[in-house]
Amino acid sequence: MEPLSIKSAQGVYPVSFDSTVAGLCGDLAQEIHSVVLIDRNVARLYAKDLAPLLAGRPVHEVSATEDEKTLDGCSRALEFLVLNNASRQTAVVAIGGGILQDIATFCAHVYFRGLKWSYVPTTLLGMADSCIGAKASINFKGFKNQLGVFHSPAAVRICLEFLRTLPDLELCSGYGEIVKLHLVGSRDKFEALASAVTRDGWRSAQLPGFVRESLTIKKAIIEVDEFDRGLRRILNYGHTFGHALESVTDHGIPHGVAVAWGMDLCNLIAVKRGILGEADFRQIHRLLAERFAFALRGAIDASALIDATRRDKKVRDNRLTLILLKEPGSLEIHAQDYGAELEDWVRYYLANLSIVKH
Ligand SMILES: NC(=O)c1ccc[n+]([C@@H]2O[C@H](COP(=O)([O-])OP(=O)(O)OC[C@H]3O[C@@H](n4cnc5c(N)ncnc54)[C@H](O)[C@@H]3O)[C@@H](O)[C@H]2O)c1
Ligand SMILES: [Zn+2]
Repeated sequence: MEPLSIKSAQGVYPVSFDSTVAGLCGDLAQEIHSVVLIDRNVARLYAKDLAPLLAGRPVHEVSATEDEKTLDGCSRALEFLVLNNASRQTAVVAIGGGILQDIATFCAHVYFRGLKWSYVPTTLLGMADSCIGAKASINFKGFKNQLGVFHSPAAVRICLEFLRTLPDLELCSGYGEIVKLHLVGSRDKFEALASAVTRDGWRSAQLPGFVRESLTIKKAIIEVDEFDRGLRRILNYGHTFGHALESVTDHGIPHGVAVAWGMDLCNLIAVKRGILGEADFRQIHRLLAERFAFALRGAIDASALIDATRRDKKVRDNRLTLILLKEPGSLEIHAQDYGAELEDWVRYYLANLSIVKH
């Protein structure tokens, strides 16, 4: 597939596509002054293909958990850099999903005020969404994504072969962001995606195309507003309630599945507020309900959920900022008062429509 190039405040970086893990690793092994941060599961699953890259090079294995995506986890990675005498000439190669990416970006940003780093995403979410945009957030004092930095990679190398071992639920999570980006893109893009996955399931032969299309849609937004001051905020579609659900379930639901659920709830709010038409709501709901159904251990409490949104970075003057869909391809930013009306809508959604059940 054709590479992409992403313009950022720190320069232009390429996103290229490799066909095999072995070929990619052989290529990365050419770089002498590099250290590797890698997801422990990936290191185990791809030990043979990774050997030329990992042999004789400092390697820090990270367990991909939200507990590791904290100051403590970053401290371990920074200690690894110190113990291996990393200098400003050292390049960091990060291999893993969004968790590994967040830890690597944060550490590369603060170590000596910025190391060069490149990213090899191994989850669908990493490939189709988080690998571009330069954002990194880590959890702090039990709250998700509270501390963050912007630090662009020098290069992103995508190899879809990694998806062979990715569990279906993680694949589904990546599709949460893919559906979001296609809804941001246009009606045609969303409908093409919806019909392909309805017909062929998640492992559709068109998946590489969906990854590239998602990145193309995101690129057009982040190149205009890299630092989240205006347009980029629409990429938070589904995230306010998605993060709240992650929080009340103690991360008992994968990020992208929570985002799919958050989009569905926001779409209902958009219908109630006269912004989104019923027919569009139903068409999108059908896909989300069919493909993202998820069973939780306990019931979701509407008040606890709404309360959890108060930690959101987008709460201002005691009002929520919601990204609401007008129609596929068109999103708007709206303030939403806390109060009885919002509670009613959330309760109604949970009782009658929720794609996440217990
Ligand atoms: N920085 C950003 O822009 C951004 C954007 C979205 C999400 N995130 C963050 O990313 C995190 C979620 O990341 P994620 O969904 O990519 O997953 P992840 O990094 O949490 O990994 C999920 C699981 O898949 C395993 N895994 C990874 N690659 C594998 C492979 N190829 N085969 C088999 N198993 C594999 C991991 O070990 C882990 O068990 C969240 O913390 C979220 O907040 C960051
Ligand atoms: Zn997200």
